[in-house]
Amino acid sequence: MKILLLGSGGREHALAWKIAQSERVEKLFIAPGNAGTANVGTNVNIKADDFEAIKAFVVENQVNMVVVGPEDPLVKGIYDDLKNDPRTKNIPVVGPSKAGAVLEGSKDFAKAFMMRHNIPTAKYATFDGEHLEEGLKFLETLEAPYVLKADGLCAGKGVLILPTLEEAQKELKEMLGGMFGNASSRVVIEEFLSGIECSVFVLTDGDHYKILPEAKDYKRIGEGDTGLNTGGMGSVSPVPFATKEWMQKVEDRIIRPTVEGLKAEGIDYKGFIFFGLINVKGEPMVIEYNCRMGDPETESVMLRLKSDIVDLFEGVAEGNLDQRSIVFDERAAVCVMLVSGGYPETYKKGYPITGIEQVEGSIVFHAGTALKDGQVVTNGGRVIAVSSYGANKEEALKKSFTEAQKIKFTDQYFRRDIGADL
Ligand code: AMP
Ligand code: GLY
Repeated sequence: MKILLLGSGGREHALAWKIAQSERVEKLFIAPGNAGTANVGTNVNIKADDFEAIKAFVVENQVNMVVVGPEDPLVKGIYDDLKNDPRTKNIPVVGPSKAGAVLEGSKDFAKAFMMRHNIPTAKYATFDGEHLEEGLKFLETLEAPYVLKADGLCAGKGVLILPTLEEAQKELKEMLGGMFGNASSRVVIEEFLSGIECSVFVLTDGDHYKILPEAKDYKRIGEGDTGLNTGGMGSVSPVPFATKEWMQKVEDRIIRPTVEGLKAEGIDYKGFIFFGLINVKGEPMVIEYNCRMGDPETESVMLRLKSDIVDLFEGVAEGNLDQRSIVFDERAAVCVMLVSGGYPETYKKGYPITGIEQVEGSIVFHAGTALKDGQVVTNGGRVIAVSSYGANKEEALKKSFTEAQKIKFTDQYFRRDIGADL
């Protein structure tokens, strides 16, 4: 079969790497892809949110399945767009409908959904610009620190955690005043939860689901989890506190009610659900939903998925995911992200990357790279993920740190403490 994967980051390279291993795949296209995806499939020069061009490509190339990597096209309704076009209406899409992607696209919707289905999450209230005074008063009823979330998509920048009431009130005014444009025209204020985070992933056909290996990601730029938030500096799977008992609580209290809730509300959801969880004194609670896989979690999780991912995708398409098997690799898997100096603030692009071919025994996933006159160059803040297996996470991390040093580009940086907190 012919598969079109949308996206261009490390997550998409890891998905492409896994999809390309399936014997069922005759041809894998990635739109737009990066210098790494070009090694496992064929890059197509179409943006992941150019729906007309995507549909034309699907028709012309007789694509049998579309797999969506990032949230943007999902929130904009790629699923519905393909379904509503007579030329593409029968092409299965791995990724939810626009109504399903709202779980990620609106924090207020996600919180209200969790309330409706009794899913454990922090207490909250949502305010718009006309209710600023109420919002300021609501903050007074909470204890520090204060959590403010822009309702809409903000490329991971829409959450502020503030130590004092004064700062929280000031930021609330700014957010409702248009700090993140339309995305912060409504702001969710919620109770601060204290604990360690864990990302849990599910693939669902709308009726059944399969739980993928869980992972922990590292968001801050600096070692010891300091400095600015990034798109992710590394990840580790499995997560030690995600024991069988804990995962049973996650399934009973969070996963099943979510899948059943979506179905009960008539929301068409065939794709990945990402549960951003926090372990509060042994009890899992939901921090956020995403309508896609995590990045850089996918760069660890795909290593631990032994089953044919295309078989699972076919289960999603045919609505018989319950009849497919999912097998995990018992080894640990980690990824360490090499980033451009200056990231997540200003940084330069276009530096030549050398040493990739010297990496042995680890898997190199490209995130922000491009090909320029046959040379792989940096093309983003997060540049390359070095993923490794190990008998345990220490062994896997040692391997990734060793191999990461072979890859060189100007001002390259990576965190050497990934996994150290677990
Ligand atoms: P989100 O974009 O919702 O994932 O939020 C970004 C990060 O903010 C999360 O990964 C958490 O580290 C933190 N965060 C969000 N909500 C809360 C909360 N209620 N309590 C504590 N930390 C939070
Ligand atoms: N790693 C967090 C995310 O993908 O949103």
